Amino acid sequence: MNDFVQRYGPVALVTGASSGIGRAFAGQLAARGLDVVLVARRRDRLEELSGTLRDTHGVNPTVLPVDLADPAAGREILEAVAQLDVGLLVSNAGFGVKGAFGQEDAAVLASMLAVNCHAPTQLAHGLAPRLTQRGQGGVIFTSSVEGLMGCPYSAGYSATKAYVNALGEALWAELGPSGVDVLTLCPGATDTEAPRLQGVDPSTLQDLMSPDDVARSALEHLGSGPTHIPSAHYSKLFDTLLSMPRPDALTAMANSVKQVSDRPGADRTGDA
Ligand SMILES: NC(=O)c1ccc[n+]([C@@H]2O[C@H](COP(=O)([O-])OP(=O)(O)OC[C@H]3O[C@@H](n4cnc5c(N)ncnc54)[C@H](OP(=O)(O)O)[C@@H]3O)[C@@H](O)[C@H]2O)c1
Repeated sequence: MNDFVQRYGPVALVTGASSGIGRAFAGQLAARGLDVVLVARRRDRLEELSGTLRDTHGVNPTVLPVDLADPAAGREILEAVAQLDVGLLVSNAGFGVKGAFGQEDAAVLASMLAVNCHAPTQLAHGLAPRLTQRGQGGVIFTSSVEGLMGCPYSAGYSATKAYVNALGEALWAELGPSGVDVLTLCPGATDTEAPRLQGVDPSTLQDLMSPDDVARSALEHLGSGPTHIPSAHYSKLFDTLLSMPRPDALTAMANSVKQVSDRPGADRTGDA
């Protein structure tokens, strides 16, 4: 058994495993020898991934199709993994909406709060006692650089990710002394389905990373929390923004989004 499996295995629970960064996490964890519990809504995607991971890496995946917008989803997942020795939670599922805050659909905002905030809280809460009792393990929260400050025209999404950052940082300090590594991952723009779902052509985004590179960077930094920004470009950009007087930074961001959205054919911004 390798050191990684010893510390974070034998089972990792990955939400948002049907696509993008979550799918990359599931693949890399299986390659390291962990059994993976695959959570998302699209059962067909999860079953296809499960078969590939079983054939390629000889692991034993579990497919768990769940809608994390359902307030009971956390409990359902925790019950499903009650008999499994979960050493790593990758709370990664999430989505964003972009545009003028007042124009957003209220039901979609409610769903975003449930998926991005409620579900990660319930899963971390349910697994924290089990992880600390084991005396070793880990939690990765996929947040976003947008959680580092309020982002105009992405107000609701950046607020959900600020919540995740606070939760992850606090748990890093609470669980660390019991041997549980907590990492809050803050990607910048990443080439997944997410930008397209927001009406953005990923090729127009700056310093786009691949989901595989984001997941790899997170796993390499799992023991070096509390927070990790995998992109040097977005790390520098947000360092600059956070060092500015806050009114200046917010006004500059709002103006920059408006300039982009005023261009012909463009009406939305990317994740970061
Ligand atoms: N891409 C970026 O530029 C970027 C940047 C910073 C942070 N992030 C964050 O990275 C994480 C992963 O996103 P991604 O970029 O990999 O996007 P993605 O390719 O769209 O993947 C999102 C994943 O979340 C799952 N999901 C969404 N809503 C769900 C729900 N109601 N119930 C269960 N699962 C749900 C999706 O599965 P189903 O649709 O099958 O349910 C999918 O597996 C998110 O938290 C996102 O906020 C992304």
